[in-house]
Amino acid sequence: MITVNNKNFIPFISAEAIQTRIDELAGQINQEYAGKQPLIVVVLNGAFIFAADLVKRLTISCEITFIRVASYSATESSGTLKQILGLNDSIEGRDLIIIEDIVDTGLTISDVCNQLNAQKPASLAIATLLFKPAALKKQLDLNYVGFEIENRFVLGYGLDYDGLGRNTPDILVLE
Ligand code: XMP
Ligand code: MG
Repeated sequence: MITVNNKNFIPFISAEAIQTRIDELAGQINQEYAGKQPLIVVVLNGAFIFAADLVKRLTISCEITFIRVASYSATESSGTLKQILGLNDSIEGRDLIIIEDIVDTGLTISDVCNQLNAQKPASLAIATLLFKPAALKKQLDLNYVGFEIENRFVLGYGLDYDGLGRNTPDILVLE
């Protein structure tokens, strides 16, 4: 158990289970992208450890780039939009694989995908370590999902609570 800002987090997904699942996801990606050269787009900060472990197992040729997503309020009618920071590469005609830590409501990733699709990539796939189906508010195609989890707050292996807890090899859940 670890305590972060007076909240207790208990073991949820072990480091071994995570690594085993990433082996499987990498195997799938290696097969499905054989002969291609995808551009892997890592969504910082949360996906940094997942992405590092996943790309080490890719045997295909690929480029890897990093983006951040910042929320900003646009007009009242359109609500909160996401701004993509750090994407300097041209993605037109490229096979993109977006790497996320977690899809919760799905609002972030669907907004990011809409913006990327507007730049006409050849294809766009999403790889997320975690997915909370019960929280989903947008229809989404998730191509690679590590674990479907219940709608509880998780931390570790890149995911944080108030900026803390990213550095654990396991994933923990709020008690
Ligand atoms: P959605 O899919 O709701 O998720 O747009 C947006 C971002 O929220 C973060 N998130 C979490 N972070 N534990 C975390 O540490 C969680 O259980 C959790 N749920 C959502 C995450 O950064 C995601 O990209
Ligand atoms: Mg995140």
